[in-house]
Amino acid sequence: MKRDLISINDLDRADIERYLHLAAVVEGLPREHRLSLLRGFILLEMFFEPSTRTKLSFEAAMRRLGGDVMGFADVSSTSVKKGETFLDTVKTVENYADVLVIRHSQEGAARLAAQASRLPVLNAGDGTNQHPSQTLLDLYTIQRFFGRVEGLRICLAGDLKYSRTVFSLLKTLMMFPGNEFVLCSPEALRVPDYLKYDEDGHRLSFVETDDLAAAVAHCDVLYMTRIQRERFGDVLEYERVKDVFVLDAAMLRHARPHMKVMHPLPRVREIALDVDATPHAGYFEQVANGMTMRQAILLEALGVSP
Ligand code: NCD
Repeated sequence: MKRDLISINDLDRADIERYLHLAAVVEGLPREHRLSLLRGFILLEMFFEPSTRTKLSFEAAMRRLGGDVMGFADVSSTSVKKGETFLDTVKTVENYADVLVIRHSQEGAARLAAQASRLPVLNAGDGTNQHPSQTLLDLYTIQRFFGRVEGLRICLAGDLKYSRTVFSLLKTLMMFPGNEFVLCSPEALRVPDYLKYDEDGHRLSFVETDDLAAAVAHCDVLYMTRIQRERFGDVLEYERVKDVFVLDAAMLRHARPHMKVMHPLPRVREIALDVDATPHAGYFEQVANGMTMRQAILLEALGVSP
């Protein structure tokens, strides 16, 4: 069976733990051994939406495992510009590679590609839906900071309506016992209703608030998000909420000493620069962990054991 990574909903707790374990193993591998693992394999990236970290960290991960990378990030330089369909593009490029990484603005695009292609497909973000590789690296980061991914107080803050990173992460952290959640956002950017219930229709347990200062004082992890300007239908709606949530060093004075601030990045204005120098800033370590986790994801997709 082909090993796609499309949605966190396709994984169970054992799958998540396997990825976490694999990332830790990869991290400890000697350089020469690492470089031999994916020699001769090609990763093909199709990025229909902008990206810095996701795209470059998949590339770096592939190269650090000895593999090659090709792809596009500017659709205007491809035949999509001439009117070629998404699936024809997928059916074409799959001939050149061993694994596909796709980012697209349409929810479901990666799933569609996975159904059409014989290659494993990794979803690098589909619209406001899912971002599973980000979630796995977020979890790996939490594991490294706290030595566990359970029994934690987690505050997800900012744009909870349009952030795909939040949807994947919340769902995953709920698989582990003892985690408590505070969802902190302006009223207009609350988590959509469909995420508030499990498959059996039971309401999930979390607190909703718009009081960031209070939430900061009580959590172990503060997961900040960018207001997703490109996903707003109404510019005025964006203007109303864009500066409501800004975390600065002064607000961290009441934080628990071990509390870590995470963010999938890019940040725009929601974390002031003075937070970077505090011991709470965890987002650049998160970036570093991203490359490690994406090595694990590539090994898993290609069925190669380290
Ligand atoms: C996130 C995304 O693309 O959803 N970025 C990322 O992959 N690190 C978050 C965002 O764009 O705000």
